[in-house]
Amino acid sequence: MPSRSIQGFSKYNKEQRIDALIKKYGFDPLLGTFLKSCEVNDESVQKIIDDLSENPISSFPFPFSVAPNFVVNGKNLFFPLVSEESSVVAALGNAAGFWAKRGGFHAEILGTEKKGQVHFRWNGNSEYLQSLFPEIREKLLAESAFLTTKMEERGGGITGIELKVLPHILPNYYQLDASFETCDAMGANFINSCLEQFGKSLQDFFQTSPKISEGQRECEIIMAILSNYTPESRVRVWVECPVSDLLDGKTETESEAFARRFEQAVHISQLDVSRAVTHNKGIFNGIDALAVATGNDFRAIEACGHAFASRNGQYSGLTYVQILEGKFRFSIELALAVGVVGGVTAVHPMAKLAMKILDNPSAKELMMCLAVAGLASNFAAVKALVSVGIQKGHMKMHLSNIMNQLKIPEDKRAEIQAYFQDKTVSFSAVEEYWKRFRLL
Ligand code: MEV
Repeated sequence: MPSRSIQGFSKYNKEQRIDALIKKYGFDPLLGTFLKSCEVNDESVQKIIDDLSENPISSFPFPFSVAPNFVVNGKNLFFPLVSEESSVVAALGNAAGFWAKRGGFHAEILGTEKKGQVHFRWNGNSEYLQSLFPEIREKLLAESAFLTTKMEERGGGITGIELKVLPHILPNYYQLDASFETCDAMGANFINSCLEQFGKSLQDFFQTSPKISEGQRECEIIMAILSNYTPESRVRVWVECPVSDLLDGKTETESEAFARRFEQAVHISQLDVSRAVTHNKGIFNGIDALAVATGNDFRAIEACGHAFASRNGQYSGLTYVQILEGKFRFSIELALAVGVVGGVTAVHPMAKLAMKILDNPSAKELMMCLAVAGLASNFAAVKALVSVGIQKGHMKMHLSNIMNQLKIPEDKRAEIQAYFQDKTVSFSAVEEYWKRFRLL
């Protein structure tokens, strides 16, 4: 087998990259035609997409969907969603319609503070360093002013810098723990630039201050980077309705039984890690779909959300149920940080469209919509789990995927769908039935 190692690949153009792949793998020479067909027709748009990453050979299309009837603080919206998973969009649409008839989703922002750290080591006395810190802080702020002016004009900037003494992590180890307000921006570049400048100013302080003795001028900056854990950038979303109104077309007793089972399912997710992870995965089905559609960094949102789910020392479900005086209240509290200016949101044509569909929200409004998507997705999942089960809805979508794989013509599908209405769907069962059906 020829070696697949290759030098200078990043300097190749797209055709050369595809050729290299064909040669190294022995792929069909027509691979380039297929890859081209996955790209958008408008070359200028494809260039924008290609420029988001390195070494592109094509685009990887996912469905771009919309779910209507989301009512968020009284405002009616379609949610733009990118998900490859069957049922996610349908579940969101169902939950949105269900709650639209019951007052919609209520949302509030609990904070927008973002964080970053400079990790450093210095082999002097920590109490002495703490006594010098007010002076150091002034220097850090003054010398980063050239970076913060614009952000301050928009109402943001550096909101705090603390010194943390952490010798239990490493000998002589400290952190500059900084807080930021970045308004409508995700602010990663702003925060990281400020932090790197803090590192330089800190080293300069140790090098030049007369208050530092000659033997202690060395300060090792280990790294300067934002933290994706933003527990003070937080949003709360809730829905509520009378318990008796929880199931369309069912009796009050049935609704009460449903509410209790729902409550128990959420309670289990609070205390059992295995269930909590799946419960939260269902929440992120909705959040990620909206985050991807709007060009936000869903890895950062997930990492933060899962850390927040562990904030009390045990990983727990992120949603809560309260049944009180005949009222059912379902809520989520989530730490998350997003931006609506700069980054992919402002560049990717589909993300720009997604933002328009959401009526061009501010970062705070987008935070609320993301938490709404999470709560809606979780409501739909738990509702199905404690009633009909999850497979009914999944299998309907699964069947449609299998029919696509088997290239079953459109006019034959209704009959197959009807046949599998009350049967277990599997690839082999559908294939078997199709073979027989085709022979008729
Ligand atoms: C599947 O993508 C998500 C669920 O497993 C979530 C849950 O169990 O709550 C249905």
